[in-house]
Amino acid sequence: MKTLLILFILMNLDKGYCTETRDQVLSISPTTQEQVDILKNVSTQYETALWQPVSPHYIKEETQVHLFVPANSSETVTDLLQKHAITHEVLLANANELIEMQTKNDSTDPRSSSTFYERYHSLEDIYYWINRTAQDNPDKVKAILIGSSYEKRPLYALKLTLNNRPNKKAIWIDCGIHAREWISPAFCLWFVHYSLSFYKQNQDIANILDNMDVYVLPVMNPDGYKYTWTTNRMWRKNRSISRSSACTGVDLNRNFDANWCTEGASHEPCTEIYCGAFPESEPESEAVANFLRLHKDTVQLYLSIHSYSQMLLFPYSCTLDEAENHNDLLEMVQEAAQKIRRYYSNTYKYGPGAKTIYLAPGGSDDWAYNLGIKYSFTFELQDRGHYGFLLPPSHIAKACNEALLAVKTIANKVIEKTQAPMGSPPAA
Ligand code: ARG
Ligand code: ZN
Repeated sequence: MKTLLILFILMNLDKGYCTETRDQVLSISPTTQEQVDILKNVSTQYETALWQPVSPHYIKEETQVHLFVPANSSETVTDLLQKHAITHEVLLANANELIEMQTKNDSTDPRSSSTFYERYHSLEDIYYWINRTAQDNPDKVKAILIGSSYEKRPLYALKLTLNNRPNKKAIWIDCGIHAREWISPAFCLWFVHYSLSFYKQNQDIANILDNMDVYVLPVMNPDGYKYTWTTNRMWRKNRSISRSSACTGVDLNRNFDANWCTEGASHEPCTEIYCGAFPESEPESEAVANFLRLHKDTVQLYLSIHSYSQMLLFPYSCTLDEAENHNDLLEMVQEAAQKIRRYYSNTYKYGPGAKTIYLAPGGSDDWAYNLGIKYSFTFELQDRGHYGFLLPPSHIAKACNEALLAVKTIANKVIEKTQAPMGSPPAA
């Protein structure tokens, strides 16, 4: 027994971590229903954060579970898994180091460094960046206040107008609907920067910006984002306080009026997929919905950026029914995924949300689609579960560039399908 213990300690030393003092992410593979039930219990009873699937409800046999286990519950959780012979491995042994790495180098002069777009930024710095970007490009960028968050933070969307052609259509991109998906706001910043810097040099972006304006909402859930920087890196929802429960937060991507709170969402405020008291009960989702209702005749393409799992999704997520233009949408994401494979050697799955991941009603993409924005997508950026939500800053450039390629591919297809080529006579 003693030798076993020593061996165990040595093994852990060998891996360079100590299970008792570090936050970890475990990859767990339950094989029996009993193990599934135990795992469901573990993820709800102990202080852990489920990364994958999004809710314990979806844990099933032979499907990998990614679980963030903070240092203080690490021993108990590992013991439980061992006791029930549940196969698991350490995915990330040093989660706290990763978290530290991602927050420390947010410099006070955010625009001083050339690597600004290859770092994650605090909410304050993003607000500063929004202001500066609008100020520095007065003829091209306008900051539009579309509403405010539950904790009364402003929701600013940037409107990019690089070409003053009349009657232009538009693209909407929102980022940061889920707080812990930090690569998402990073992508919105990346996209704006790229558009402003490469309009004159890159044909794809030029064609897009010549034909369309782009609305970019860098952080749709500022309260949640702030909370991930100050208090809990694994927070997903917004920060609204419930009347009926001690649990905080609504899943904004379950709060839209698209088969609201049917299977795949929950009325229980303590879950990660709480749909809220009623559709658009949350100021953040209401603000986006109001803006899109106002602009539904110009916005032709809706994009919502999430992470992780590398997927290009389109409606529906709220039903297994096929969207009316399913084949068009499929063709677009297929081409985008092929290009990502060709240019970045990376694999993205694609398809309608409900069939590709799970039923998830109340999502912004389905709602926008039903409003009449027939090209509507949700992107799940890098990675596929190695770093998960803790994607290191060194991966930002590649993650954003491949997503940008997907945006370019899809936007240019939308232009091709919907706009008559310039100079041709109008159809009779
Ligand atoms: N991971 C995303 C979520 O759970 C997927 C979004 C897909 N679209 C949707 N309408 N659910 O929100
Ligand atoms: Zn998300």
